[in-house]
Amino acid sequence: MVLLGLASAGLIGGYVATVGFFATHPKVINVGHMPEQPVPFSHALHAGKLKLDCRYCHNTVDKAAHAAIPPTATCGNCHGGKDRVKEGATLAAVHLKSEKLTKVRESLESGEPVEWLRVHELPGFVYFNHSAHVTRGVSCVECHGRIDKMEVVYQAKQLSMKWCLDCHRNPDESLRPVDQVTNLGWDPQGEELKKVYDEELEKAFGHLGRSVVGDSNDLRLFYYDGKAEASKAGEFAVNPLVNKQNLQHVFAEKIFGEDPKLADGDGSGDISLAEALLYLKDYRSSPTRKDLGVLLKNAYKIKPKQNCSTCHR
Ligand code: HEC
Ligand code: HEC
Ligand code: HEC
Ligand code: HEC
Ligand code: HEC
Repeated sequence: MVLLGLASAGLIGGYVATVGFFATHPKVINVGHMPEQPVPFSHALHAGKLKLDCRYCHNTVDKAAHAAIPPTATCGNCHGGKDRVKEGATLAAVHLKSEKLTKVRESLESGEPVEWLRVHELPGFVYFNHSAHVTRGVSCVECHGRIDKMEVVYQAKQLSMKWCLDCHRNPDESLRPVDQVTNLGWDPQGEELKKVYDEELEKAFGHLGRSVVGDSNDLRLFYYDGKAEASKAGEFAVNPLVNKQNLQHVFAEKIFGEDPKLADGDGSGDISLAEALLYLKDYRSSPTRKDLGVLLKNAYKIKPKQNCSTCHR
């Protein structure tokens, strides 16, 4: 096991006592590291201007630990050469004669890969996994910065253990809807953010969420009075979540997460239904990114681990 190796090398002795003083591995503090690549490939052009999704090229990023660097064949879809002109696709033979693409054409001919240089690299004793992040709503931008604006990729963040753990302890502000992880410029504000919040609430809690937070106050009033309206009762009865006890449970545990007392307005230590509903109303009237993150974290039970074996195995 890797940690034992570190221990025997004397690296880990006294770790528990001196946890805050541990030296950071020199490999990861390389912020700004920007090796000159064999082909002047621009993310600002391909991912920014042409809006190619990151997964078009890094197609394992949401499935595996490592994000694949694309084979030259992927470049060949657009810079492929004469044969492709006949296929009629306008992009198929872009800059056919460009010197900047000489190495790409050579690689397509010979089958030898282009020798891209690594930009980010953790020491060998650290286990990292892309899909574990990307499929839980952590965007590339949190760790790599605005790649879609970079002419040449550089390391934007210090990839230290402290950095990993800071987010694992408190991921709220780093979470977004999973379908936005490769949209690096995503930054909804005001009404737009509220719309996303409502959609996510609805996705997570379905009919219940929609009924409670929708434009209609019916359900809210319905429960507020504790009286059932015959016409509505049938509709609500089809959703097994909708009864007083469950509703409290849903709010307390799923929406307010680890701190259900947030909703405890009268300090009784118990959340009344009325408090929960009122709180939800205020809570979402102008949600922040953190509110959205808390909702996502609780709805999808995101709980990043902090034990050593998560990252050292
Ligand atoms: C057209 C293909 C293509 C697209 C689209 C693309 N990339 Fe890349 N990416 C590459 C290639 C080729 C490299 C290696 C050369 C380099 O570093 O520029 C690379 C390198 C990287 C690296 C550095 C890898 C290392 O060595 O540490 C990161 C990070 C990265 N890409 C992130 C992204 C993100 C985020 C997006 C979407 C916003 C994206 N890429 C879109 C082709 C692509
Ligand atoms: C979906 C199509 C597409 C793919 C895939 C693609 N490119 Fe491009 N690339 C373009 C287009 C379009 C331009 C030209 C944009 C312009 O000139 O405005 C371009 C321009 C370039 C240029 C600049 C050429 C010059 O002379 O200015 C380089 C270098 C380049 N691409 C490398 C690559 C590499 C390397 C890959 C694979 C990792 C790749 N491209 C994949 C569409 C693509
Ligand atoms: C939680 C942080 C984090 C997120 C989110 C993240 N990356 Fe990375 N990425 C890293 C780290 C750390 C490395 C270095 C990994 C290593 O050395 O084992 C890396 C390396 C890479 C590499 C080089 C190949 C590899 O796997 O080592 C590429 C390409 C890449 N990332 C692309 C992306 C793209 C595209 C996204 C978004 C779809 C993304 N990354 C999201 C932290 C992240
Ligand atoms: C911006 C926030 C963020 C950063 C930075 C980050 N992580 Fe994570 N990490 C997460 C989240 C969120 C999850 C998903 C947890 C879940 O599914 O419950 C996760 C999951 C993981 C997992 C899968 C195991 C697990 O906890 O379920 C590993 C391994 C991991 N992270 C390693 C790392 C390493 C190593 C680094 C630093 C190089 C790092 N992470 C940086 C947010 C982050
Ligand atoms: C979320 C991921 C993560 C967790 C959890 C984690 N580490 Fe690390 N650790 C890293 C990363 C990334 C590095 C390399 C960067 C650095 O040195 O800061 C590292 C480096 C180290 C190093 C080497 C420092 C050096 O000087 O090179 C030791 C020793 C270590 N970790 C021990 C531990 C112990 C013990 C635990 C449990 C208490 C732990 N780690 C938990 C991510 C993690």
